[in-house]
Amino acid sequence: MAPLNIAVIGGDGTGPEVIAEAVKVLEAAATRFALTLKLTYLPYDGTRYLATGETLSDAELEGLKAYDAILLGAIGHPDITPGVLERGILLKLRFGLDQYINLRPVRLYPNVYTPIKDKSPADIDYVVVRENTGGLYTGMGGVAMKGTDHEVATQTMAYTHHQVARCVRYAFETARQRHAETPFHGLSEAQIAKGYKAKLTLCGKSNVLAYVFDLWQRVMAEVGAEYPEVLTDYVHVDAMCIYMIECPERFDVIVTENMFGDIITDLAAVTQGGMGVAASGNINPEGVSMFEPIGGTAPSFTGLDQINPMAAIGAVHMMLAHLGYSEAASAVEVAKTSVIEQMDSMAAAKMGMGTKEVGDRVVAALKR
Ligand code: IPM
Ligand code: MN
Repeated sequence: MAPLNIAVIGGDGTGPEVIAEAVKVLEAAATRFALTLKLTYLPYDGTRYLATGETLSDAELEGLKAYDAILLGAIGHPDITPGVLERGILLKLRFGLDQYINLRPVRLYPNVYTPIKDKSPADIDYVVVRENTGGLYTGMGGVAMKGTDHEVATQTMAYTHHQVARCVRYAFETARQRHAETPFHGLSEAQIAKGYKAKLTLCGKSNVLAYVFDLWQRVMAEVGAEYPEVLTDYVHVDAMCIYMIECPERFDVIVTENMFGDIITDLAAVTQGGMGVAASGNINPEGVSMFEPIGGTAPSFTGLDQINPMAAIGAVHMMLAHLGYSEAASAVEVAKTSVIEQMDSMAAAKMGMGTKEVGDRVVAALKR
C-alpha cells in the first residue's frame, strides 16, 4: 500500500510540542492498523521568517499539493507584527489550497469541566461548519486619505453563490452523516415523528447584513430540498452566543460565514473545556486538507511540558477520519477519551501530568 504522505508543520511556540505528541499517536495508530507513514517536517514558521524574511513562497505552497494531508501546530511569534504570519502563512495555506471548509467539532468529553452549569456531554455535542475562504477574510477593501481626519477604511464581506453553495452542501452532508453517530441530536419528539433525522442551523445576521444572508438563506433552501431528512433552522449570530450557553443541546450542525465562525468557535471551545481540546480541520474535499489544534502558540508555556496536546491529538483523529481510515480514527478517539478521563483538567499546567505523559498515555491506550 502506498504510504500516507503527511506534511508536518510544527510552527511556533508550543506548536512543535503538541505536534510531537500528535505524531506519536499517529505513529502508534499506523503501527496498529498497518498503515505506512511518510512524514515530512517543514519549517514554515515565525522562526524561519525572522531568519530569512520568507513566510510561505508560491513554490512551497505548490509543493504542499503533493501531500495526502497537512498536520499543523500553531503559527505566531511575539517578535513579529501581528498579521504577517497569519496572512503570510496560515491564511495563504487555507486560501491557496482552497480549504473552503473549517470544520470545528464541539464536544464535551466525560470528566471535563465546562463553565456552563448543569450541562453534560449529551448536551454539548455539535459541529460548526465555518466557511473558510470568503467573507471578510478575502481582504477586499482599502483605505484612502490615510492619516487625515477624512481617512476612510473598508473591509468587505464578500460572498459568491459558488462559495456559499459548496459550503452549505458540505454542511448538509455533514448533517446527513452525523445521523449515524449522534442520531436526532437537537430534534424534538415531534420533529422526529415527522421524519427528521438531523438538524442544520444557519448562523447569520440577516436583519442587518441583508444582501449576504439573503444569499445564504436562498442557498440553504435550494440545497436543502435535496436533504428532506435534515431539519433546517436559522439563528442570528448574536442570539447564537446566548443559545450556545443556555441551550447548546439545540444544535447538531451549525453552518456559518467565515468571521462569525471564527468568533463563535472560540466561545464554543470554552464550553467544551477550552483550547486544550478544540481541534479543527481545514478541508478541501477535492484537494489537500490541513488539520490543526485551534489553541495558538501559547508562548508563556513554550518548552515547559505543560501544554495540553489533546487538541493536536484530536487533529490526528480528524485527519485519519477525513482520509478514510475510520477504524484507526475511532481507535484514536477511544484512546483519547480514556486519557481525558484520567486528567485533572484540560488547562495547561493543571492537567495533573505533563505534555509528554498525555501523549504516552494515549499511545499506551491505543496499544491495548
Ligand atoms: C483561527 C484563528 C485565525 C482565524 C487567525 C490566526 C488568522 O483565529 O484559526 O480561528 O482568524 O481564522
Ligand atoms: Mn480564531
